[in-house]
Amino acid sequence: MSDHPGTDRTIEIAPSVLPADFAKLGEEVAALEAAGVDRIQWDVMDGRFVPNLTFGPDVIAACRPHASVLFEAHLMVEQPDDLASRYVDAGCGLIIVHAEACVHLHRTLDRIAELGARAAVALNPATPAVALTDVLDLVDLVLVMTVNPGFGGQAYIPSMEPKIAEVRRMVLEGGHDVDIEVDGGIGPNTIEAAAAAGANVLVAGSALYRDPEGLTHAVSQLRQIAESTRR
Ligand code: DX5
Repeated sequence: MSDHPGTDRTIEIAPSVLPADFAKLGEEVAALEAAGVDRIQWDVMDGRFVPNLTFGPDVIAACRPHASVLFEAHLMVEQPDDLASRYVDAGCGLIIVHAEACVHLHRTLDRIAELGARAAVALNPATPAVALTDVLDLVDLVLVMTVNPGFGGQAYIPSMEPKIAEVRRMVLEGGHDVDIEVDGGIGPNTIEAAAAAGANVLVAGSALYRDPEGLTHAVSQLRQIAESTRR
């Protein structure tokens, strides 16, 4: 039994597409699936909620036929209500909205479920877990950001680990069937602490693409380290 009760959910490795070669994204998502990833995360950025600008729904729709794993859209955007349906139509089965971008978060999450997708909420580093109190029954996943959103390659923020554990406690005490995801600075030196704190879906971008032994090795190594916290 692990030291952290409730951290027995299946470990999933989710690549961020941000560091991939944008000139050949179809091949890149196929390579990620071949490397053994469990899902693929698209970092959708609007240049307003975060400074960067990334993937429109048409780009994701073009890549959809090249992989069969779940696509999740991490909407780092100011108006998620206006955009969510377009990313569902593009082939994303899970939509992550930021609590900080939603004036009516409960309604936004409800609408995502009405679209037939799985709903999820992300918390920036400054947003406390208590923001989730009245929406845990509406989500399949909570994303605890371990960097400030907008760019890949940033340093992991270890002070987020108590928040990961707090979210896991809230999920367990409420009897919710909810995954906990972390995103930002996840690599061989940080994934163990994040998983031990309670995360079971781990997003990595830079760490996968900078591994000199390639994507398959990187995915397998991260999975092994994360699963070691379950023994
Ligand atoms: C931040 C992005 C990054 C990205 C992963 O907005 O969401 O966290 O997905 O970046 P790495 O793994 O390179 O830190």
